[in-house]
Amino acid sequence: MRRLNLAILISGRGSNMEALLHAAEDPAYPAKPVLVASNRPDAKGLETAAAARIPTAAIDHRLYGKDREAFERQLDAELEKAGTEIIALAGFMRVLTPWFVGKWEGRLVNIHPSLLPKYRGLHTHQRAIESGDAEGGCSVHWVSAGVDEGEVIAQARVPILPGDTEDTLAARVLVEEHKLYPRALAMACEAIRSGK
Ligand code: GRF
Repeated sequence: MRRLNLAILISGRGSNMEALLHAAEDPAYPAKPVLVASNRPDAKGLETAAAARIPTAAIDHRLYGKDREAFERQLDAELEKAGTEIIALAGFMRVLTPWFVGKWEGRLVNIHPSLLPKYRGLHTHQRAIESGDAEGGCSVHWVSAGVDEGEVIAQARVPILPGDTEDTLAARVLVEEHKLYPRALAMACEAIRSGK
């Protein structure tokens, strides 16, 4: 079975990207990485991807000022050049415009560090602790026009323990993110293949 060409978008560390690249080393994995792109030229994950011999692109969003769409058109050109068929956002810290989401909808997924629909946006772990939740977790979801609002593909849960801080909870969730994302991305590939 032909694998879907996968582009991964990052902004920083890229540990979720690394988990996806690792899963895709298996030739039976349904996605094949063709590009890792970052809006930050200094993103650590770009070095990791280059070391794994995956083509990389840095498109510095600061060069486009407030014109988000101009930045995205450049990004889109790189995605098209690489033959992208599915995009995984992995710690990509730019809100996408309706133009970009509209173009890639149904082929665009994201990982978010909360049990959606709880805690869209930032500081998810802090908000879960402050709310007295017994559990935290992460979600992989289809990206739609609203931020962190698309349909959930899969989730993983962890307990919130007494004395947890934002950092200790983030670390516990991150371990699960690295297991969840490859699994959920494979599910997304299957959904695309079967026409959903
Ligand atoms: C992850 O916690 C992800 O859920 C969130 O940003 C973090 C990115 O980490 N969106 P990394 O760059 O994948 O290491």
